[in-house]
Amino acid sequence: MKGILIGILVVVFSIGVPALYRNFGEPKYPVSEVRVDNSEIEKKYRESVVSEILNKLSELDGNEEVVNRLKNLAERLKENLLLDENNKLVNEAKSLSSDIGREDIANLFDKVFIRYEYNPEKVSYGKKLFENWCATCHGREGDSLAITPEGLKDSLGHAIYARDFTGKYHREGKVVFKFASEFVGEFASDEEIKRIIIEGLPGTPMPGFPMLEEKELDAILEFIKSLNPRWKFYEPKK
Ligand code: HEC
Repeated sequence: MKGILIGILVVVFSIGVPALYRNFGEPKYPVSEVRVDNSEIEKKYRESVVSEILNKLSELDGNEEVVNRLKNLAERLKENLLLDENNKLVNEAKSLSSDIGREDIANLFDKVFIRYEYNPEKVSYGKKLFENWCATCHGREGDSLAITPEGLKDSLGHAIYARDFTGKYHREGKVVFKFASEFVGEFASDEEIKRIIIEGLPGTPMPGFPMLEEKELDAILEFIKSLNPRWKFYEPKK
């Protein structure tokens, strides 16, 4: 009798325990393939650039025809246009601005020139990796809403937020990097961000991920960039 009981227990454990572990190994949530929607943030960015342009144009005397044309182009660039149409309008506006000797206005139009298109395969691979390694603290959509039940806390019990990569909590929709030392405009360089992912930020909850391969780091970076539309207008400075 005892022997049979022990036998049953052994069978239950040897099937049950590994099955449990297998479950732990699987991601808890299905990985969503849906792109994070950042169209509102893009619109906000475009509107702020366009209002700066319209201000400058309203101070201009003369060249009425060109000024009206420029106003018209600026209004159209408020919409989230796709690369080809967008850049055609920007190029036209830049050359018109230069014609009337206003490089400053041309430079403002340049702020909505699309320089970079995301590689969708890389983004979705990056999203998968992000959900596995980073989402607990940075949120599934990279917006800093940690998915731990009680959120992130410091030793005094105060809430800590991991970096928000979407910019949706920033007044002007910006992503503000704090530790990446090599600031380039308002963004950190690719190398700098990758270094922080590998090494972590000692003294904060941000751990290092030395086990990630270059290919994986690239994909995670691409996903992070896809979260804030400013990256696509951004020209890395050498
Ligand atoms: C255990 C929680 C945790 C995990 C897991 C985590 N992070 Fe973080 N991360 C943080 C916190 C907290 C901060 C903000 C630190 C601060 O500002 O004090 C941060 C900051 C960052 C920064 C900003 C650096 C800067 O200059 O502002 C980057 C980039 C980053 N994390 C990327 C990642 C990536 C990519 C992953 C996954 C591979 C990841 N993190 C996983 C908690 C985490």
